[in-house]
Amino acid sequence: MAHQWRGVINEYAERLPHFKEVVTLGEGGTPLVHAPALDARTGATVYVKVEGANPTGSFKDRGMTSAISDVASTGGVEYVACASTGNTSASAAAYAVRAGLGCAVILPAGKIAAGKLAQAVVHGATLVAVDGNFDDCLRIVRELTAEYPVALVNSVNPYRLQGQKTAAFEIVDALGDAPDIHVLPVGNAGNISAYWMGYNEYAGRTTSASIDDSATKIAAVATKVPQMWGIQADGAAPFVKGEPVEFPETVATAIRIGNPASWDFAVEARDNSGGFIDAVSDAEILEAQALLSAQVGVFVEPASAASVAGLLKAAAAGKVPSGATITCTVTGNGLKDTATALGSYEFDPNPIAPTVEATVKALGL
Ligand code: F0G
Repeated sequence: MAHQWRGVINEYAERLPHFKEVVTLGEGGTPLVHAPALDARTGATVYVKVEGANPTGSFKDRGMTSAISDVASTGGVEYVACASTGNTSASAAAYAVRAGLGCAVILPAGKIAAGKLAQAVVHGATLVAVDGNFDDCLRIVRELTAEYPVALVNSVNPYRLQGQKTAAFEIVDALGDAPDIHVLPVGNAGNISAYWMGYNEYAGRTTSASIDDSATKIAAVATKVPQMWGIQADGAAPFVKGEPVEFPETVATAIRIGNPASWDFAVEARDNSGGFIDAVSDAEILEAQALLSAQVGVFVEPASAASVAGLLKAAAAGKVPSGATITCTVTGNGLKDTATALGSYEFDPNPIAPTVEATVKALGL
């Protein structure tokens, strides 16, 4: 019988708020890929949750289907707006198209990867570049949406986290229970809060991010919850410092954030799970990105590789329990930021003659 994945709202309807109108691009249902190359380095069993396989190439689609469905179901506004380091804007722009809404994106000038910018443009969003960082953009969008009939679709909108929690559901569905440890990059801290909520709700408990207790009225699927390990970039590590960072800087532009909005939820996830939030250097991020490409077969953007970089750092420090089951979210597709991945590489500037002989010679066969 014909069957197609129906998007996270329809697949997990009983554990999500009810929406009169569901705006979906079929998000979710992403691969959980076993990574033997990471097993070898950690002594654990490691899976990567490939969120770059979502319709707009990042995990943001899980939360955008629910945020935009809420806007469409509630009515009364014709515009949505978000601040973004790139992925949220790409996702908001695409889902706004499906809902027939306008979309305004407020972005830090010069700090958005080209692929993400292209997505916002082709989906018809109105782009505003700000001479400031993401935190400035979010402040502007909060004030703007408070005063004008424009709906805010950043992750401070609670419906965003509702959709994003489904990634934890999928992991438990795939493994049969929660992993021992879940590792993911932390920027504005919405995703770590959403995963923690998802894991808890699947185990029959709520968290502060939960918007009702309906999940506890359904039979628990998981017998436990994982430790949450959050990873930031050294130059943008407010949780590690214990206070906001005024001028965040990192090659992983997606997590170039100094004043995370979901601070309290993230601290709850860290502390109540017995986990930690650590930081890794840009060099470690780029090494992990290269390793994922060359040895796991998954091309991710730099921010996504922070999770794996953090896992490898923990392994080197002897913090990874041997034989543990570990899941790592790789949050966005590498195709969004090819410039960083390629560095100074240039595809052959001296093309060969169009013959098999010349090709054989070029290949050194
Ligand atoms: N990884 C990627 C690829 C991201 O785009 C983001 C956030 C994160 C990790 C961090 O997730 O903010 O929930 O802690 N990107 C946002 C954006 C800020 O505007 O696209 P978080």
